[in-house]
Amino acid sequence: EEAEKEVAENTEASDGELINIGFAQVGHESDWRTASTKSCQDVFSEANGYNLSFVDCDNDSAAQLEAVRSFIEQDVDYIIIDPIVSTGWDTVLTECEDAGIPVIVIDRTIDDSDKYAAWVGSDFKQEGLAAGEWLKAYADANGISEINALVISGTTGASAQIGRSDGFKEVADKYGWTILDEQTGDFTEDGGQEVMESYCKSYEGKFNVVVCQNDNEAFGAMTAMDNAGVTYGPDGDVILISFDACTAGLEEVKARKITADFECNPLAAPTVEEVIQTLKNGGTPEAEVYMPEHWYALPDAIVEFSINGEAQEMTEVTDAVIE
Ligand code: AHR
Repeated sequence: EEAEKEVAENTEASDGELINIGFAQVGHESDWRTASTKSCQDVFSEANGYNLSFVDCDNDSAAQLEAVRSFIEQDVDYIIIDPIVSTGWDTVLTECEDAGIPVIVIDRTIDDSDKYAAWVGSDFKQEGLAAGEWLKAYADANGISEINALVISGTTGASAQIGRSDGFKEVADKYGWTILDEQTGDFTEDGGQEVMESYCKSYEGKFNVVVCQNDNEAFGAMTAMDNAGVTYGPDGDVILISFDACTAGLEEVKARKITADFECNPLAAPTVEEVIQTLKNGGTPEAEVYMPEHWYALPDAIVEFSINGEAQEMTEVTDAVIE
């Protein structure tokens, strides 16, 4: 009976009733990633007419290229890539093109090749600019005239890291702030803790802002600061900025630990599915789709700010928002 079921499933897939998708996911480094994976698995389910080959690349770029090549060998109908780093893609994307398999890029960008059908993700530079301009307005409102910031960055070479670093630095340069250091925590809680432990020793008493490029790094940094006796959040000595605004991150905003959290929306899969349906029907999808994102804080850290003249709205963290 099992064998019969298997044959039926395979036949369905090769008959084209199910659309075969290969998804080369970054890894499992963060809460954000878990949400992204779940969203993709929910959308590209058999019940929705898909047969999903999912590969967790464990933050290893070579493994990610291998995963894409295995999808070419399997002759899947579409390949989805969330690129760990933004470069090194042209050869394998040419191979996909030669095999006639359309590629859709999700979340992070590919910056050295245009051989893909569409990209759906976040404006990471805008997130970095938002964090910086919010900090300027918050510091002004609280009479803080000097900023000495420590940055815990994400995976080096990931467009999420590059955009957030560039955006924040642009604002820091504009206002003459000091960025004391920037080291990678690889978007993980352990990485964030390790970097913050070393920062607490090297920069003891010298910093008043910590920027973590995702919530998990912020959780690690919080542990390190707790252990070092450094206070943070709206009531502490250090302004703690985070990105992602996942449920657990927003809980820490509510708990007055993270001062402000800048969202990166992990739910791009439904839009990627629309792209695939457009391609399947012979249409041309939008080349780039940006996910909507919000900037979160508690009322006493909500300030008015703008990015390049465009006023930004902030969202108050309430129980309803966290759910
Ligand atoms: O590419 C998106 C980033 O990757 C998220 O900010 C982070 O949490 C994840 O690991």
